[in-house]
Amino acid sequence: MRPTLAPFPTTRLRRTRASAALRDLTQENRLSVKDLIWPVFVRDGDNVEEPVASMPGVLRRSVDLVVKAAEEAAELGIPAICLFPYTDPSLKTETCEEAWNPDNLSNRAIRAIKAAVPEIAVMTDIALDPYNANGHDGIVRNGEILNDESVEALVRMAMAQADAGADILGPSDMMDGRIGAIRAALEAADHRNVTILSYSAKYASAFYGPFRDAVGATGALQGDKKTYQMNPGNSDEAIRLIERDLSEGADMVMVKPGLPYLDICRRVKDTFGVPTYAYQVSGEYAMIQAAVGNGWLDGDKVMMESLLAFKRAGCDGILTYFAPAAARMLRAGG
Ligand code: PBG
Repeated sequence: MRPTLAPFPTTRLRRTRASAALRDLTQENRLSVKDLIWPVFVRDGDNVEEPVASMPGVLRRSVDLVVKAAEEAAELGIPAICLFPYTDPSLKTETCEEAWNPDNLSNRAIRAIKAAVPEIAVMTDIALDPYNANGHDGIVRNGEILNDESVEALVRMAMAQADAGADILGPSDMMDGRIGAIRAALEAADHRNVTILSYSAKYASAFYGPFRDAVGATGALQGDKKTYQMNPGNSDEAIRLIERDLSEGADMVMVKPGLPYLDICRRVKDTFGVPTYAYQVSGEYAMIQAAVGNGWLDGDKVMMESLLAFKRAGCDGILTYFAPAAARMLRAGG
């Protein structure tokens, strides 16, 4: 029986939501396993893995087990893996030489992965914090984070990673001029196809807390990173940073953190139309896992919804600790 008092709606937007088939047909954005980059923590040793306390489900793995993880990722169809080293405190200095040691943990892992699973792209992080006695991304002198000296060190670090076989370099340090300097050095060394995914719009965020625990930088950091990472109140500045990094030779750009900064993702994609990535960072992961652990949220559903949100915001891909779990859900048709 039709109600007689209400007029018929002229448009029934519920029609295309009425069945799973129609919902599928009219879905505007989709997540694919090909959108995922998996960040992985590397530690010393052989056949060891240990949990990261503040990131339930995330492990630090020795190089041999990182290779296994890369094999698993390739098998799931994940196109890229991103390496973060947990560096022994004894190797951390004020001058950060370990950052460009060809045999440091990260470079050994790159070589081992490329030897075993050449088809997976290996991404790196370029910043001095894993190697810096005071926990900063740049060289510190008298309490100041020096820009140009840091860029020199970062170029050395980038070249060691490219020499080890990295496919995607991810400068995450936020120094001025580093993209141009790294690009010039890569060209001069004939590393023409090494790509740069610049952490261009990286905010000084409290959401990185669990990551610093994962890489053993929590106790080391003196002060904060506000003189180089972005002010969370800014949006125009993200556009200026991305324009600058593209002009210096970045191939792809990143917004970081992810979910609290989806407005920036959308603006970047609309403004530049370049390959745009977001990093769903450690704190975002930890928040979801904490709620899931308490039985307050449905883990699989929240994971997939949070990742789809990045696609809707215009991102081409997402760095996420959920990558293997999401890949398995996608494979199962979820
Ligand atoms: C290093 C770096 C950080 C993250 C990625 N690269 C930490 C920081 O800038 O302090 C954070 C990633 C995460 O929280 O998942 N500069």
